[in-house]
Amino acid sequence: MTKEEAKARIAELSDIIDNHNYRYYILAQPTISDYDFDMLMNELLSLEQQFPDLITESSPSQRVGGGITKEFATVRHKYPMLSLSNSYNKEEIIDFISRIKKSIDGPVDFVCELKFDGVSISLTYEKGILRRAVTRGDGSRGDDVTTNIKTIHTIPLRLKGDYPDFFEMRGEIIMPHNSFEKINIEREDLGLPTFANPRNAAAGTIKLQDSKEVANRRLDNYCYYMMMDDMPYKTHYESLMAARRWGFNISEHIALCHDIDEIESFINLWDVKRKALSFDIDGIVIKVNDFAQQEELGYTAKSPRWAIAYKFKAEEAHTKLLSVDFQVGRHGTITPVANLEPVQLAGTTVKRATLHNADFIKQLDLHYDDVVSVEKGGEIIPKITGVDLQCRKDNSIPVSFVSKCPECGTPLVQTEGEAAWYCPNSLGCPPQIKGRIEHFISRKAMNIESLGEGKIEVLFDNHLVNNYADLYDLKYEQLYGLEKVIEIKDEYNLLQEPVLRKVSFKQKTADNILESLQKSKKVPFARVLFALGIKYVGETTAKLIANAEGSVDNIIKASTEELKQIDEVGEKIALSVREFFDDERNIDLVNRLKAAGLQFEQEKRTSTENNILAGKSIVVSGSFTNFSREEIKQLIEDLGGKNVSSISSKTDFVVAGEKMGPEKKKKAEALNIPVLSEEEFIAMTGRKNSMLTLF
Ligand code: IVH
Repeated sequence: MTKEEAKARIAELSDIIDNHNYRYYILAQPTISDYDFDMLMNELLSLEQQFPDLITESSPSQRVGGGITKEFATVRHKYPMLSLSNSYNKEEIIDFISRIKKSIDGPVDFVCELKFDGVSISLTYEKGILRRAVTRGDGSRGDDVTTNIKTIHTIPLRLKGDYPDFFEMRGEIIMPHNSFEKINIEREDLGLPTFANPRNAAAGTIKLQDSKEVANRRLDNYCYYMMMDDMPYKTHYESLMAARRWGFNISEHIALCHDIDEIESFINLWDVKRKALSFDIDGIVIKVNDFAQQEELGYTAKSPRWAIAYKFKAEEAHTKLLSVDFQVGRHGTITPVANLEPVQLAGTTVKRATLHNADFIKQLDLHYDDVVSVEKGGEIIPKITGVDLQCRKDNSIPVSFVSKCPECGTPLVQTEGEAAWYCPNSLGCPPQIKGRIEHFISRKAMNIESLGEGKIEVLFDNHLVNNYADLYDLKYEQLYGLEKVIEIKDEYNLLQEPVLRKVSFKQKTADNILESLQKSKKVPFARVLFALGIKYVGETTAKLIANAEGSVDNIIKASTEELKQIDEVGEKIALSVREFFDDERNIDLVNRLKAAGLQFEQEKRTSTENNILAGKSIVVSGSFTNFSREEIKQLIEDLGGKNVSSISSKTDFVVAGEKMGPEKKKKAEALNIPVLSEEEFIAMTGRKNSMLTLF
């Protein structure tokens, strides 16, 4: 076959397969057998193997998976991904409807939809091709999971019909019950911890590195909101119907409602019918139908004012409290966990539930042998919501909180204003030591792939590592031959039994560990800073501190006040950073890591052309036309500048958009700090928008 012929046949096969795919997965009306479908797919795969340059990103072969994503890139959302305000009773829904009817002239229609219990996703389509699939993340930035998402058959890779050139579709990735059960059986067989619920399983699956494994797990998707700059439709309902024509999976259970009675009937119907669905929903979403009315109602900082979620009441069960464990976390925090007589709840057996902290136990006035009510309201961890006092025996013993660390015996302390008790013996308490090392090696920190919780435990038990700096002193002879059967703690929830696993260090394991430790010496400074495990310093904060200070030596020298100048660093974080570096033992660890060759300085920018804001401290205030505030800040960082949150004599200039705070304005004037308009900033940087940083 010539290349031209192959190209034509690939196009033809792609159309046929897409069509069958749509009929099978979305319409549930297949017109060919599985065997015939596989034959078509095999023909396509073999042609693409022969002519690899004819493979397109929207080819149906992409659904088979195979692509590996080592690290998911962070992508800024063009439109932020907001959440919905929740309500648990019908009165709040009545209030919501009447509030809206009052503030809008004329009739208002509502759309009632199922609230899918999964993971939200933003799908970007350009000229009918799926370009990017991004998770919600923190609402303004998420992870690019496109390769994995392409394996989901109900997500169109190419659209059909009269679709617009550029738009985003919002939807939910869900795991149907049958896929969930199958995976948990397989995991149990393999001795792996099982997933607590389908939402967790979906969340874990879309972040897998191997897209072939994602394809195996059979996720599903429903879409429920369209976003674009010039929306050609008047109503949300029309836009969903159009999306359905283009190939999206739009639920058939949508109702156009005109008043509260119709809305209430929809809620009541689905509160019962949901039990027969093949996937989880956790409520009903009610949205104003007309886009112009949506616009008029606007948004709060977190959610639209034109929509609300009615959450179904969580299912509840009653059972007996057998005992309480006190677990010690990485930062020494003590979490009480209840061991319960096993009880069936919403399809799973509940054996454990969190008791949060000492105050929670006191509020419940919990006694051993109490009959307690347990709820699973969509949360991962079941919670105890009440005690049946009538069932309490006269001589029962109240649950009291421990006063000493259950792991190392150190008397517990409490930080003023916080409910949690913690063990202060951070450098001598085993779970804290192991937890810190586990964090250090984790993927978003040093990414030492071949080590994990089990191996850390073996190294710790053999006195080979007592802190993360010890990792870099490990020798092959020390590792080779180590072996132990350990208890793998349930990593997803508190529901399941611990699993026993044999950990052994064979030749290859030892080689891999030493190799990935070597590789980790190239991990950039921001991630090393995150890996140190400073309380309250997450991945993003570590990045901001690393960017602002440039090196660990500068951080060590920085005062709390200086640290507080860094964007998003408040009193609590600044004090925690100071406390960490004021401890000589931590300085010793840093020095040892430095000597081992880890990165403790921000990489220098090489191109001066892109570095025009180097050394400048800049405050961004107000709202902008060409950028979002976050985008301007990113641009400043990209160009070598430093974002600071408040104006001081050290500020070089302020970029002011509309509605800049009057206080900031006054302060800038008083200190004689130049204030640049958006236009002036564009002229200075030569960037008209943030497209370069967006994509
Ligand atoms: S609309 C601007 N519709 O619920 C808000 N969300 O708690 C757009 N969800 O993050 C969301 N089903 O992940 C909408 N029919 C539905 C939904 C739905 C599930 C999820 C979504 C969102 C969360 C809000």
